[in-house]
Amino acid sequence: MGEAVLIASGKGGVGKTTIATNLGATLALRGASVVLVDLNMSLRNLDLYLGLENEILFDMADVLSGLCSISKSLVRDPRFQGLYLLSGAQCKEVAGLTPAHMAALIVQLKKRFDVVLADGPSGVPEHLRCAAVNMDRAIVVVTPDHSSLRNGDMVDKKLQEIGVENRCYLVNKVIPELFGRNIVPDLEDMAGVFATPMAGVVSYDENVHIANNRGYPIVSARDSYIAGNFDRIAQKLFG
Ligand SMILES: Nc1ncnc2c1ncn2[C@@H]1O[C@H](COP(=O)(O)OP(=O)(O)OP(=O)(O)O)[C@@H](O)[C@H]1O
Ligand SMILES: [Mg+2]
Repeated sequence: MGEAVLIASGKGGVGKTTIATNLGATLALRGASVVLVDLNMSLRNLDLYLGLENEILFDMADVLSGLCSISKSLVRDPRFQGLYLLSGAQCKEVAGLTPAHMAALIVQLKKRFDVVLADGPSGVPEHLRCAAVNMDRAIVVVTPDHSSLRNGDMVDKKLQEIGVENRCYLVNKVIPELFGRNIVPDLEDMAGVFATPMAGVVSYDENVHIANNRGYPIVSARDSYIAGNFDRIAQKLFG
């Protein structure tokens, strides 16, 4: 049985999809079988960040409504052995979505993959409860902003309430030169906010932004410092 991990955040735009894409690709490069699941119902992005937008025939809505099987909905990433995408729905409601439906889907995926990495919604919307069901752990992504930290902490507490015991936070879009100058919250401030451990730090880097827009995981450049960083994060989280 594999492990299901939810990537969540308090605020939108902090980098959940970026982290999902690159952590998923890194885990695949390390030999794991991984399915990236886009839980942003009706506003999907993972397909774009992976450059697989033209390959999607069926999505989450089709699976949950019984229109197609899980197998048919999975898109294989040809660049990374063992990496698959289950795309979110785009511009259509996922009718009758309940935690029970989601629980059944996650169990099926955990039977097939070592890691089920879910790109979750931001904030504490109605379907956070659905997104978090049967998740073995959660990574709350934050940026070095007081607003992001406060909202991230809210989501962390909500996830605890829902029953996700194993949680950590990951800091994205860090500009190291701003730390320690009382301009933005630094790592010490963040450790004071979160009761959970920190999974890692990802720098703000325009190359990440460019890769997202060009549809490839930045960790594809294996000798880059970013690939090394994601490798360390993967090692810390998954051993
Ligand atoms: N480390 C980084 N360096 C530079 N740009 C980044 C970094 N991480 C993310 N971005 C950029 O920030 C924006 C938001 O990232 P992303 O879509 O991953 O966030 P998100 O949390 O998934 O957003 P949403 O809440 O809308 O789903 C994108 O333009 C992305 O390219
Ligand atoms: Mg996103």
